[in-house]
Amino acid sequence: MRLSLRFVLPLLLVLAGIAYAVAPLVDRMTLRWFVRDIEIRAELIANTIHGPLLEQLAAGKKAKTSEFFNRILQDERLYAIGYCATTTAPMLASRTLPAEVTCASLQRWKAPGEQLLSGARGLLHVAVLPVNTDTPAVTDTTTETDTTTPTTTAAGHLVLVHDMSFMTRRSEETKRYLFYVFMALAAAVSLITVVVAQLSWRGWMAGMQALLRGEGLLRRPEVSPQSSLPGFKPIARDLQRLIKELESENRARDESQLTWSPDTLRTILHGELRGEDVIVVSNREPYIHQRRGEMVEVQRPASGLVTALEPIMRACSGTWIAHGSGSADQEVVDSHDRIAVPPEHPAYQIRRVWLTPEEEAGYYYGFSNEGMWPLCHIAHVRPIFRSSDWAQYVAVNRKFAQAVVKESKTRNPIVLVQDYHFALLPKMIRDELPDATIISFWHIPWPNPESFAICPWREEILAGMLGSSIMGFHTQFHCNNFVDTVDRFLEARVDRESFDVSFGGKMTAVRRYPISIEWPPEPALLKKSVPECRSEIRSRNGLPQEHKLGIGVDRLDYTKGILERFRSIERLLELNPDWIGRFTFVQIAAPTRSSIDEYQHHEAQVRALAARINARFDRRGPPPIVLKVEQHATPQVYEYFRASDLCFVSSLHDGMNLVAKEFVAARDDERGVLILSEFTGAARELPESLIVNPYDSDQCAAALHLALSMPDLEQRDRMRLMRGLVAEFNVFRWAGRMLLDAASKRKRRRLVGKPERAD
Ligand code: G6P
Repeated sequence: MRLSLRFVLPLLLVLAGIAYAVAPLVDRMTLRWFVRDIEIRAELIANTIHGPLLEQLAAGKKAKTSEFFNRILQDERLYAIGYCATTTAPMLASRTLPAEVTCASLQRWKAPGEQLLSGARGLLHVAVLPVNTDTPAVTDTTTETDTTTPTTTAAGHLVLVHDMSFMTRRSEETKRYLFYVFMALAAAVSLITVVVAQLSWRGWMAGMQALLRGEGLLRRPEVSPQSSLPGFKPIARDLQRLIKELESENRARDESQLTWSPDTLRTILHGELRGEDVIVVSNREPYIHQRRGEMVEVQRPASGLVTALEPIMRACSGTWIAHGSGSADQEVVDSHDRIAVPPEHPAYQIRRVWLTPEEEAGYYYGFSNEGMWPLCHIAHVRPIFRSSDWAQYVAVNRKFAQAVVKESKTRNPIVLVQDYHFALLPKMIRDELPDATIISFWHIPWPNPESFAICPWREEILAGMLGSSIMGFHTQFHCNNFVDTVDRFLEARVDRESFDVSFGGKMTAVRRYPISIEWPPEPALLKKSVPECRSEIRSRNGLPQEHKLGIGVDRLDYTKGILERFRSIERLLELNPDWIGRFTFVQIAAPTRSSIDEYQHHEAQVRALAARINARFDRRGPPPIVLKVEQHATPQVYEYFRASDLCFVSSLHDGMNLVAKEFVAARDDERGVLILSEFTGAARELPESLIVNPYDSDQCAAALHLALSMPDLEQRDRMRLMRGLVAEFNVFRWAGRMLLDAASKRKRRRLVGKPERAD
């Protein structure tokens, strides 16, 4: 109503103004029409009285002529009448003739446009017409001929004065009607406009709300019939794109202005997310309690996932739900299966979930690590899918979903679901907590649709993952593969431009978030100087001080390309025998998933190959390969990184590979060369490393030789660039970007008053 008034009143005023401005124009036009009418009328009268007048004049009866004139004046509009024989003669006229009209002034009234006279009775029109003896009178008001000059045929001039006051009356009436017409027009236009505007506004608002929810206009009609407004679709798409561009522009600007640290993360959490509940779920726990005789030892697992997430949780507090896999884990938890960590400075809670041996065998060893792991990595190991493993996988995912619901203090927690162990968890959580913001991160590669197709439960896995609000991968390539796979196997709507997937009435944003490490590294890790590390590590391994050292740190996993690495070392020594006895490669290989046949077989192969190569070149000094199949704590690993001349990461396929970034972080002396497989996510971020194809042993051997002979200055330049990148894109930025995206999703939800379910 207010809108209508605000619109109608100005419109009425505008139209009234137009009417007011148009009135004089109408006046002028009607005056012209009336004058023309009067002129025609005057001619008619002149012709009518021409004969009788001539007779009167011929008879010389002046008094009779005046009477004759007074009789003619019965006509309502004819005001006065007169006759001039010559310009000097007195006017023979009716009583009413205005004083201004004389025979001497006849010429003035004949001038075009000068026939009007304002008198006491109002407006008068004066017409002067010739009276001829032989021809009827014709008006000459349009000619310039001087008709006051007597001719042989002209007998004088007739003056007819018409009352024009009726014209003023009519003009007033016309103006009044005109005003009424404009007012009626204004009312009609306003009414139509207000009705149309109301209808469009409602539709537009509904469209905008749906748009801001990231669904509506682009959603399929069966999901939301009112949102299928085809006319809005292009606008909606443009607006969506614009919003996203603005968001990403803002994000880029904000990000570059921020120093990403634990404090930044805390500020985002408590500011943008208003200190809301953060729950992390992963299979691997960050602290494992192991019983060693009388003692309970706290172990840190060899897991890139844990390396990345632990500093995040230290910064954010919250709860980390994970499988309690340590032999003393149950002994140390409270009655709610929780324990505060890190042991030295507790900052967050681990909530342990207990699995039976059958569950662990089917869910962890079976479906996760014999099925999903080889399925997602191109390492030429066949996945094994057993339906009994799948049943355990489903059951364990459900068990973790229940733990999430139990640990959640609110109806809308932020849940960070980690990795391929929990593909079904996002949907299970969404079913229980529709308002939760679920950010899932897939730490390993995502294969192309053809490779993924071999999984018998591919649809269930994809549908489970699409319960997430945000689905994160390390690289755009993995995002593309995922979106292609969804497009191939699900009835989902995939927006290739925004990388949003709409499935089952929910929207999942598929995004790239390259993971990283803590920066700056803990000072304790860099405390021992590089020369000290070099010297101690060489002494510990019985190597001469000037001996060249290479390092590899991995889980003993077939995806890491350890066999290919060893073959390259062998090839180096074949091609450049000078390095024999002068170069040793230390391989730290943490035992992993050892109950799985493939891993046992792989370990045996690695041991055998190292032994063969060492045997081949052993005669001439220290062995080329030192294989340490045992887990090393982070400070020991950093010591090796700082002691080495090169680090070789030769993964056959790897989501990111944080060892590469840790090596760079460890080298505050800006020395050391990184050789990096092109099949790691890290290769896209660290182009200053020596990028190699691990299957090409000649190329890898050449890279090893280049690294061993690289001048200090070049090492410094390359290392400096890589350190700059890791510093800038540290793990706080990785988590911060995901949380900021989650926060803006939540804000959008609040703005349009919709629950998180409508993601
Ligand atoms: C990879 C996976 C992690 C896993 C880690 C160690 O990095 O992405 O989820 O924790 O390997 O493997 P494990 O089986 O020992 O947990």
